[in-house]
Amino acid sequence: MEKTINYFENKGAENTDKVIELVKQRKKELGIKTIVIASVSGKSALKLREAIEDVEIVSITHHAGFKEKGKLEITRENIEKLKENNITFYTGSHALSGVGRGISNKFGGITPVEIIAATLRLFGQGIKVCVEISIMAADAGLIPVDEEIIAIGGTAWGVDAAVVLKAANMSNFFDLQIKEIIAMPRS
Ligand SMILES: Cc1cc2nc3c(=O)[nH]c(=O)nc-3n(C[C@H](O)[C@H](O)[C@H](O)COP(=O)(O)O)c2cc1C
Repeated sequence: MEKTINYFENKGAENTDKVIELVKQRKKELGIKTIVIASVSGKSALKLREAIEDVEIVSITHHAGFKEKGKLEITRENIEKLKENNITFYTGSHALSGVGRGISNKFGGITPVEIIAATLRLFGQGIKVCVEISIMAADAGLIPVDEEIIAIGGTAWGVDAAVVLKAANMSNFFDLQIKEIIAMPRS
């Protein structure tokens, strides 16, 4: 079968609107029912909802303490906006760093999970994020593991990558299947 992949010249937030447009098309083509998106502030998730009404959206933010000890980066106001827009909001330990990051921060070296993350980053930050948030959402029981979904990620802010995948729980990580790349940056 032939399918298209949209390659962005540059990574980053400037690609957000185009990713959402492409996701909308692919969702329609494949009859996708669930989309998981990485959205630290909630802004990209809200943009996605503006564009697509008839889909379950799960929005994942950074874990508390990612930037500042004990603090979430998303505001109360934006959490409320997500709820008002029927977007499921989730925050939890990052699947592809987790306690491993605590170990490597303190003792040096790298844990196997961080090697998985670094390997996925060969496709760019956004693709690695798509896989990570799918595991997190699956482990929270928020997305199915027996049907295809769309996952969206980016490089620090906004979104620049999207894939169709079948998710898995962390205990069966290698069952996760990336089916299609919808978009990714070339840089
Ligand atoms: C769990 C999680 C992990 C993330 N990991 C990375 C990462 O490793 N590298 C990166 O550039 N961005 C990372 N991000 C950022 C996202 O890919 C995305 O750009 C961001 O969540 C968009 O947020 P916004 O809607 O507030 O702009 C991560 C976000 C989340 C929620």
